[in-house]
Amino acid sequence: MIRNVGTCRIETVQGDITLEKTDAIGNAANSMLAGGGGVDGAIHRAGGPAIMAECRRIGGCPTGGCVVTTAGRLKAKRVLHMVGPIWNGGENDEAELLAFCYRSALDLAVEHGLRSVAFPSVSTGIYGFPVRPAAMIALRTIAAFLRERSAPELVRMVLFDPGTRKAYDEGLAELLPDIAADA
Ligand code: APR
Repeated sequence: MIRNVGTCRIETVQGDITLEKTDAIGNAANSMLAGGGGVDGAIHRAGGPAIMAECRRIGGCPTGGCVVTTAGRLKAKRVLHMVGPIWNGGENDEAELLAFCYRSALDLAVEHGLRSVAFPSVSTGIYGFPVRPAAMIALRTIAAFLRERSAPELVRMVLFDPGTRKAYDEGLAELLPDIAADA
């Protein structure tokens, strides 16, 4: 699905984010930047040891934050390591922290001149954040940022499984109804 926000674009696709050719890809990291399973494991495996070497130099990142590293052997130029919250019932600032990590990643992308960014569905795997609310938080935060800053040009949500893709498609259709389709 594609939606325009001013001169920028939000897309949802199903796929493996390690194959993306966008300027940057997001990683669902932990606050120690220590690597792990899920998308984090896939990115380090595909990108090679240069990414972990830089993560070790940086040392860590608080929940809700983001740090940028090289993308090693990946096609993307940079990896934005986003530290999403662990779901703990929903009353522990999970929503705010999830929004913060997308905003931090977008801020860094603009600061580094990265014009296209692919994001995974942060926190909805091992960290257990329910997918539907996570999708709405991610999409709302991204759309607000694009409206405000008119950059990056493209934000592509790369969703690994059909259920997650469906949640983001439904969220995007609800958030940005396709006016052209009704005309
Ligand atoms: N491309 C895109 N999405 C992927 C990929 C991939 N190659 N591999 C997994 N995913 C998806 C998962 O299916 C899920 O929808 O990314 C989403 C986020 O899941 P996780 O990777 O488990 O991330 P998260 O829930 O944020 O947990 C982070 O897991 O791997 C550890 O070090 C990481 O401790 C951190 C925690």
